[in-house]
Amino acid sequence: MRPVAVLCGVGSYLPPTAVSNDDLSQRLDTTDEWILTRTGIANRFFASRGTATSDLAVSAAERALKCAEVDGVDAVVLATTTPDRPCPATAPVVAAKLGLSGVAAFDVGAVCTGFLYALSAAAGLIATETAERVLVIGADTYSTIVDPSNRSDAVIFGDGAGAVVLRAGTPGEPGAVGPFDLGSDGDHRDLITIRAGGSEQRLSGAEPRPEDHYFSMSGKKVFQQAIVQMAGSVRGLLRRAGLEIGQVDRMVGHQANQRILTRLADVLGLPEDRNIGNIREVGNTAGASIPIALDDGHRRGLLSTGDQVLLTAFGGGLTWGSALLTWPDLHHTDRIRS
Ligand code: COA
Repeated sequence: MRPVAVLCGVGSYLPPTAVSNDDLSQRLDTTDEWILTRTGIANRFFASRGTATSDLAVSAAERALKCAEVDGVDAVVLATTTPDRPCPATAPVVAAKLGLSGVAAFDVGAVCTGFLYALSAAAGLIATETAERVLVIGADTYSTIVDPSNRSDAVIFGDGAGAVVLRAGTPGEPGAVGPFDLGSDGDHRDLITIRAGGSEQRLSGAEPRPEDHYFSMSGKKVFQQAIVQMAGSVRGLLRRAGLEIGQVDRMVGHQANQRILTRLADVLGLPEDRNIGNIREVGNTAGASIPIALDDGHRRGLLSTGDQVLLTAFGGGLTWGSALLTWPDLHHTDRIRS
């Protein structure tokens, strides 16, 4: 029988600088009330100078490895939109910093859906017996790419990292990951983008405008697309798994905007109390948001062994995806912040 991927450890890390809505309203034309009611976010964390995405990733990975009670893996898969450098990938750097030089290591670029794409790639490494244990990390430092003077974007994003450890196991055991549903639509790449810095801009011969170096997002269109695509992905996934929405115990969606998550639960017919997350405390941490929310749910006792957990995400590309996971029996890790 082919092995299946089984989740056996989870951990997360948030940098120490907390930034409240009131802090942001000191320098932006916004208010705590607007941010909280329009996004559900009250606080986020920013990485400090001298810290890179790989540093956040390593701290989250160390906690996940400790939770799994293992000190080695055969592969490291990192989802990020904010790599340490455009080249090389950041995963080999993370592996080296963890003392794991020599293992397979690569980045996955699917923006806010990146963690689900990375999880699926890692499950494939296990199913093909390329690896027995894989570290899957989502890590992002959006504070380095968001225009700090753009009030629409600057209030949403925060920095952080989350990680899980997968091991080879058998279908149906607690922790089993899958099936997956993944999709994309590159015709809508302009809805979430950084225009400068890639081959398209370099080969155009045109000088980029200063704002082209920053992340840009068409908030309203993204909002609408996010609900449509995540709902479609979840319905396809449940059909394939032969499950009804009522059999889902917990949904952990990409923590983009609480209004998106509430509306999504409503459209799917999922009772609101099964929709868990921590966007209020950490904001939108992009590729890191699902593993950070999973770790938070685990430490708050919101996830019980055997729970059918639905993961779903949406992001730039456009990309979207969903996955099922039977919650395992896990050890408790340290507090989320250092
Ligand atoms: N404070 C106060 N006012 C703000 C503001 C802020 N931080 N940001 C935007 N506004 C204003 C706008 O300027 C606009 O004013 P106007 O009507 O005078 O022009 C008004 O609020 C409404 O703007 P709009 O962009 O339509 O707001 P919205 O309700 O769509 O909320 C987002 C904006 C960005 C919060 C929302 O679109 C969103 O969350 N989109 C999805 C983002 C997301 O999920 N991204 C990640 C996907 S991976």
